[in-house]
Amino acid sequence: MESPKQFDFLVIGSGLAGLFYALEASKAGTVAILTKRSAQESNTLHAQGGVACVASSADSFELHIQDTLDTGAGLCKEGVVRTIIEEGPERIRDLARLGVRFSTRPGEGGEIWDLGKEGGHSRRRIFHVDDATGREIEQVLLRAVRANPRITVLEDHQAVDLITLAKLGYASENRCVGCYVLDRASGRVEAFCAHHTLLATGGCGKVYLYTSNPDVATGDGVAMAFRAGVPVANMEFIQFHPTCLYHPQAKSFLISEALRGEGALLLNHEGHRFLLDADPRGELAPRDIVARAIDAEIKRSGHPCVYLDIRRKGKEFLRERFPTIYAACLRYGIDMAEDRIPVVPAAHYQCGGVVTDVDGRTELPGLWAAGEVACTGLHGANRLASNSLLEAMVVSYRAARASIAAGPVSRKVAIPSWDEGSAADPDELVVVAHNWREIRELMWDYVGIVRTRKRLHRAGVRLQNLAREIREFYWSYRLNADLIELRNLVLVASLVVDSALERRESRGLHYVLDFPGPDDSRPPADTILRLSEPSIRA
Ligand code: SIN
Repeated sequence: MESPKQFDFLVIGSGLAGLFYALEASKAGTVAILTKRSAQESNTLHAQGGVACVASSADSFELHIQDTLDTGAGLCKEGVVRTIIEEGPERIRDLARLGVRFSTRPGEGGEIWDLGKEGGHSRRRIFHVDDATGREIEQVLLRAVRANPRITVLEDHQAVDLITLAKLGYASENRCVGCYVLDRASGRVEAFCAHHTLLATGGCGKVYLYTSNPDVATGDGVAMAFRAGVPVANMEFIQFHPTCLYHPQAKSFLISEALRGEGALLLNHEGHRFLLDADPRGELAPRDIVARAIDAEIKRSGHPCVYLDIRRKGKEFLRERFPTIYAACLRYGIDMAEDRIPVVPAAHYQCGGVVTDVDGRTELPGLWAAGEVACTGLHGANRLASNSLLEAMVVSYRAARASIAAGPVSRKVAIPSWDEGSAADPDELVVVAHNWREIRELMWDYVGIVRTRKRLHRAGVRLQNLAREIREFYWSYRLNADLIELRNLVLVASLVVDSALERRESRGLHYVLDFPGPDDSRPPADTILRLSEPSIRA
């Protein structure tokens, strides 16, 4: 038996939540950050809009709380919403102290924050760094992490499964004690142990054919937690971003909602501002309404996309406020000062996830979760734009403080080495590629923006067959990165479908034609799924 690698804190994922937790936790011990590709590749890196946070005299915590509750369609936990919103300003100051240069503009007494506006917000309150907020945050935090001698960053290290006392056969007590991890360079699976493990693995956009998310968003944290018996909530609430660039060569490129905040109009191919027919707030209605209206318009017209029109703001403003989007559009031959931008909705954000409290604490001692992977109760049935980076930084900070307060775990346990059995290298990689494609297509076609129970049932049956096949493949062959992701992807897709079937109403992001409205006969409730018998071979 090879001895496991030992740290005080283990962090899986290297976006804002993981890096912020690591910096705080390192004040009390050693930290390992495991990241399955390069450290900067994360959902945070691609976040354009910014961080929602109250910062002007025209705004208040109460207004931000109310906007969040209204958007969340009855499922937000008000105490959690209040804590996260009220602690936002302190965490924004932390980011600024670390070196994040949020955009400013000239005000009466000098430079003031240039706060943006997005759908569902009644006030300007989005801190941003031009239109590449996540990139700046990621780079600043990574610099701080790399300069910290107590933090070890391990790239190309892909988490396989959590190690728990229950899985190791301890009957009287359960706890997360670490994780099995594939070192992609050597192809070997090693055990990492820690007193506290944080899941900061982001969401599951890659479950869908079209997504704004990077390739790493394969739902790994939700899948690992679920296999460890930890409850997962509200996975039916997948947020579709209304406006991703529609161009054959543009993979997953988002056109930020901040454009609509600055006055961009959404038009159909005939130039009609069709959103006003769906909601008087037009382009600044919450995302679920905008995405559904676009979906309906595309289906009605047979035209493959709709258009964002921000030409009237002029070249100078657009180049300065949206340098990243302007340059990206130009690369595809679209000058947004002169052309309308073709856009379509795409899967963007997982509002549900691993159930935690506002400190990121899961039901399993020793396991914490923060960021998109977690379901704290902030987003409810629909996330208010730019509340996610806010949640990631507040909850990861609180999780680090709570992990430190919980202290080290004295108990030593023997961790068996990973059993490769008689596994051989898979010789039929076409099966992996095929199943991967099939899951994503079927989720897009059957479990998209507008759902029916018949299609959900169909998707469920197909996913069960795929899961069986993938399980056999997984346990018959030597592990590789694609197989690990495929196994997670099929499980998370099933969790989305099962949750959607559990919810017999339309609410927030879950819209099902069989029940077109909310069920007002009972109080709104979360959809909670859990595996009854966690097994190492699940
Ligand atoms: C955007 O810039 O439109 C994305 C912001 C968000 O998803 O919160």
